[in-house]
Amino acid sequence: MIHTKACEIFGIMHPVVLAGMGGGANPALVAAVSEVGGLGILACTWATPDDIRAQVADIRARTSRPFGVNFVLDQVAPEKLDAAIEERVPVISLFRGTDPTDIVARARAAGLVTTLQVTTMDEARTALAAGVDVVIVQGREGGGHMGPHPLWTLLPQVVAIAGATPVLASGALVSGRDLAAALAMGASGVHMGTRFLASVEAPISDQFKAAILAARDGDTVASKMWDLLWGQEWSGMMARALRNDLTLRWAGREGELAASLGPARAEFAAAKAAGDHSRLNMLAGEGSARIDSILPAAEIVRSVVAEAEAALREAAALIR
Ligand SMILES: Cc1cc2nc3c(=O)[nH]c(=O)nc-3n(C[C@H](O)[C@H](O)[C@H](O)COP(=O)(O)O)c2cc1C
Repeated sequence: MIHTKACEIFGIMHPVVLAGMGGGANPALVAAVSEVGGLGILACTWATPDDIRAQVADIRARTSRPFGVNFVLDQVAPEKLDAAIEERVPVISLFRGTDPTDIVARARAAGLVTTLQVTTMDEARTALAAGVDVVIVQGREGGGHMGPHPLWTLLPQVVAIAGATPVLASGALVSGRDLAAALAMGASGVHMGTRFLASVEAPISDQFKAAILAARDGDTVASKMWDLLWGQEWSGMMARALRNDLTLRWAGREGELAASLGPARAEFAAAKAAGDHSRLNMLAGEGSARIDSILPAAEIVRSVVAEAEAALREAAALIR
């Protein structure tokens, strides 16, 4: 059994966290990860306060173990954060954006644990100054919106300034060897998104899951095209997605896209209505190249932990 400080703080058995993923998880997936001893997190930035309450009740009906809800700070309306705090969701997971100090203090006053996912050293300093309980370091290899730095470059720098605050590693982590490597780099666990998209429970289409299995090295692309298509402003951040007809058309041509947004958004809406993933967003990380099975979420957690234990023993045996 691998027990870390993050396990202690979250009240979980295994240092494996399901990342908050808008459109990528539902109460069934979140509860499955928590029930087996990891930490499931539900993305709630785009849910209404009533939806948040209903989904939290759904998770609680499926598991009595700790779980979290996630908000992107520069996208979320305050009443959604209020709903999560009123519901006393055990873990409030935040992603970059506006100053987190107030929400962290309010969550702490309610007895809740907070995490903030960071993509730069400045964001890490902000997280630590705000007093978050666990810092999550996301590398540019990760799926969805991502920052500028590779995980293995940023993680040790954040670990070096984090002091007693545990740090989770995030971005293209899909296996037990990845967990072992993250622990060796000073992390307290892993935060995985794409690996759980390729789970039985994930509420994404079979076409999307098949595309993850088919992906090889270089089959993801980072672009600002998605926020242009969605009409969202993420302070210039790019988002990583599987390469498809739409990324071939617009990634690297964001200026042209910005100039023809009307027709491009109409085509995007038509692809959505048709469920045509060759012309839709399939946010996923570079770890897709190493995912070759759709498994129940509980099995993913169990196999990651078992493989990490074996890898750590193998590494320890090198010491003479
Ligand atoms: C489909 C998808 C949706 C995402 N949505 C969110 C979100 O709503 N909030 C958030 O904090 N992070 C979001 N992320 C980023 C994850 O928190 C995490 O950083 C990322 O999944 C880690 O990389 P990996 O997918 O390679 O494991 C999303 C990622 C994916 C793949």
